[in-house]
Amino acid sequence: MVGVMGVLDRFRLDGRTVVITGGSRGLGRAMAQGLAEAGADLILIGREGDALETAREELTALGRWVAVVPGDVSTPAGAGAACQQVLNLNRPVDVLVNNVGGRRVDLPTELMPVEQWQQLIDLNLTSALVCCQQLCTGMLARGRGSVINVTSIAGPWVSIPGIGGRHYETAKAALTGLTRALAADWAPRGVRVNAIAPGGFLTDPNRRWFTEKPDFQRAFEGRIPMARLGEPTELAPTAVFLASDASSYITGSTVIVDGGYTLW
Ligand SMILES: NC(=O)c1ccc[n+]([C@@H]2O[C@H](COP(=O)([O-])OP(=O)(O)OC[C@H]3O[C@@H](n4cnc5c(N)ncnc54)[C@H](OP(=O)(O)O)[C@@H]3O)[C@@H](O)[C@H]2O)c1
Repeated sequence: MVGVMGVLDRFRLDGRTVVITGGSRGLGRAMAQGLAEAGADLILIGREGDALETAREELTALGRWVAVVPGDVSTPAGAGAACQQVLNLNRPVDVLVNNVGGRRVDLPTELMPVEQWQQLIDLNLTSALVCCQQLCTGMLARGRGSVINVTSIAGPWVSIPGIGGRHYETAKAALTGLTRALAADWAPRGVRVNAIAPGGFLTDPNRRWFTEKPDFQRAFEGRIPMARLGEPTELAPTAVFLASDASSYITGSTVIVDGGYTLW
């Protein structure tokens, strides 16, 4: 059946360029792997040069074009500067994965200095806004593109017990709102905007929380119907799906990948 596109072909990303904020480690690195295996070229943003370089070498070995952009997107100015470096590469961006974020501090809300709250909102929410503003103009002009915001089950669906820092739930809920509103605005212009909401995955920040709070780990795992944390590789197929034409009629959605955490 030469010339007929099969269903698996719709997941291919050959010739597409994907920007991933925080693509050097953790879930971003795992998504980068999946997207590259599906054919995508990559631009990875991160703070630490060595981690970026290691990721670049490993992903280039898959036969893809990979560029790295050292930058800190936690402030609006830093996010803007990183985006400018991406634009300086002169390569049309087809897919943007806004992955940088994190809880970072475990503080009761009543004790959190407002300045720190604002910094963490910038990290988790404003960084995604700035990247959308700067990196999606080309998509809008060409009438084609896909944005994936990495949110969390924390915020839109649940508050995580046993750990403070409600800036995280707040920002992730707001990022879900931004996802849906932008999806509506940009649908007529050919750009889809979706979110992935991970549950608990064994990445460095969670290893740190679990080391500091072993009871928190036991309690967290006890709430997962599948009774285990996720492997970062288990997030990658969802990123490929939302980045590719396989999800061509899906916008404003969130795919929850949580082993069932939010079911109970
Ligand atoms: N892990 C989970 O279980 C889980 C659950 C729900 C949601 N999430 C969300 O998934 C996303 C990724 O989490 P993760 O656990 O994979 O985090 P991670 O292991 O800390 O990885 C973060 C990645 O982002 C980069 N990064 C961190 N801060 C940055 C900054 N300010 N500017 C540029 N790059 C930065 C890191 O590299 P450098 O440190 O070198 O910059 C690394 O490449 C976050 O939005 C998080 O909220 C994670």
